[in-house]
Amino acid sequence: MCGIVAATAQRDVVPLLIAGLKALEYRGYDSAGISVLEDGKLARVRAAGKVRELEALYDAHPVAGVTGIAHTRWATHGVPNTINAHPHVSSDRVAVVHNGIIENHVELREELKAHGYRFESETDTEVIAHLVDHALSRGADLRGAVLSATRRLHGAYAIAVLSRDQPGQIVGARRGSPLVAGLGDGEHFLGSDVQALIKQTSRFIYLEEGDIVEISREDLAIFNADGEPVERPVRTSELSADAVERGEYRHYMLKEIFEQPRAIADTLEGRISENRILPNIFGVNADALLSRVKHVQIVACGTSYHAGLVARYWLEGLVGLPCSVEVASEYRYRHVVVPEGTLFLAVSQSGETADTLAALREGKRHGYLGSLTICNVPESSLVRESDLVLMTRAGPEIGVASTKAFTTQLAALALLVFELARLNGIEPARYSRLVAELATLPRVVGEVLKLDPEIAALAERFVPKHHALFLGRGVHYPVALEGALKLKEISYIHAEAYPAGELKHGPLALVDEDMPVITVAPNNQLLEKLKSNMEEVRARGGELFVFADTDAPVAQSGSRGAVLKIASGGNLIAPAVFTVPLQLLAYHVAVLRGTDVDQPRNLAKSVTVE
Ligand code: G6P
Repeated sequence: MCGIVAATAQRDVVPLLIAGLKALEYRGYDSAGISVLEDGKLARVRAAGKVRELEALYDAHPVAGVTGIAHTRWATHGVPNTINAHPHVSSDRVAVVHNGIIENHVELREELKAHGYRFESETDTEVIAHLVDHALSRGADLRGAVLSATRRLHGAYAIAVLSRDQPGQIVGARRGSPLVAGLGDGEHFLGSDVQALIKQTSRFIYLEEGDIVEISREDLAIFNADGEPVERPVRTSELSADAVERGEYRHYMLKEIFEQPRAIADTLEGRISENRILPNIFGVNADALLSRVKHVQIVACGTSYHAGLVARYWLEGLVGLPCSVEVASEYRYRHVVVPEGTLFLAVSQSGETADTLAALREGKRHGYLGSLTICNVPESSLVRESDLVLMTRAGPEIGVASTKAFTTQLAALALLVFELARLNGIEPARYSRLVAELATLPRVVGEVLKLDPEIAALAERFVPKHHALFLGRGVHYPVALEGALKLKEISYIHAEAYPAGELKHGPLALVDEDMPVITVAPNNQLLEKLKSNMEEVRARGGELFVFADTDAPVAQSGSRGAVLKIASGGNLIAPAVFTVPLQLLAYHVAVLRGTDVDQPRNLAKSVTVE
């Protein structure tokens, strides 16, 4: 993962580099570093830990310069200490920041050692610095040196390179990892994403695979992998600078949980009207493809995978289309058999998740009918490489634990399901009822958010726990999976989710008075079955915390555990609605346990490495 930001300007760029790194911390926060050209020399500041550690070091020992590169790291090769922090340098002449993984770094390291280069870090990145330096010492200019270095690299990279010999210039390159160029007024920037630079400019160029970009204060030029000049369109980002501010909220995660009514409403806006889906929301001529779909293969990771699991119940239950769902890291390395007429459906908040992107590329070789991506980031790699796209409009999600991205994905997936239902001849009255129910989702989620104080109080009972079980049935099994994921990733309480009917095949052995069992109990056709499963837990002394539909006949039993009533608003939207209290529960437990809610240990938001 890792975040890159670089700038060349007439002003001191260090403050904007630090601000850019803070906006990129969602990509990793193991260490951070900056390199600028100061009085003709490469100055470097690096610190283990978060960007604020780097900032403290910089405040104590300021550096300044008009050209610089910066990095926030999610460690892959080498522990997260200062020596392994980027930028990596070679011969006091070249500094490099890198996002990605260089797979042949061991061979390159040996080769460079034979040329007399000494390595100070354990990273794969340091080979890039030495390769560039080696090419420079043979007479290449910076761009030529970067081109020849990148030709030697196997794996994925986005890089920004600075050389003492060409002050005022930065060369960037990408293959497999994202990089954008920002166009300012007499200044230019590079960044892993638009968010890093939105305070400086709203005009961007999204670099394509294999591109090399050369920026100076006045000029920007792009070259393809063969070194030939190419033109790439300039786009204006609609992201507002304050979309990435935390505002009055204590954490981004809480802000994002509370933004869900707005985010879902934005995702539905202009797409449904008078209880029907408006034409062409998947693009002009999308019907031609969608009407031929006989099977859907969903591929995703993490929370997005859970959204895909929900969609399977909808697709099979409402449309009658067979659907398979798989995590991308498994799918991409498996021999897949693709039934005729299969739509490849990628679900991703970032649009840059390496495994999902690789799965899409791999999928293209398997004779799918076509591909569709549901995504939150315009111009991301998945969006650009898919045949059809439906954007969620959640706005930037900064908290590493995904919240509004999930519920907006469900809203977008529901739109797709309805469209496929229409094309497959769903009964019109049923179709209208479903669309009308979806339209109520923002309001219903808004109501559930009012339970926040109650859930905060409930959270206190989880603070001393070490483990938790989440149970759900049917379409609410993925909701339980998502609840368990939220709790484990931010509170570090070990949490697992099971389909409730599977309890007696193993996990019941874990149930005792120390094991809280969280159950999602909507008032649907599986409620009676679920209640039997809950009795199995009670009989073993387990403590049940039930999130039950307002009209579900589920009552508190004894003084242990709790029943919280949720107005789910209907079977279709219930998975999204029931997710919200589980998000709040995880959030409050984490706050009470004093963890770093927005940046939990060892994780990152955008996983652009395998
Ligand atoms: C990381 C994030 C998760 C996210 C997953 C997939 O693990 O921490 O929140 O669900 O990546 O990311 P994507 O951007 O593809 O949805």
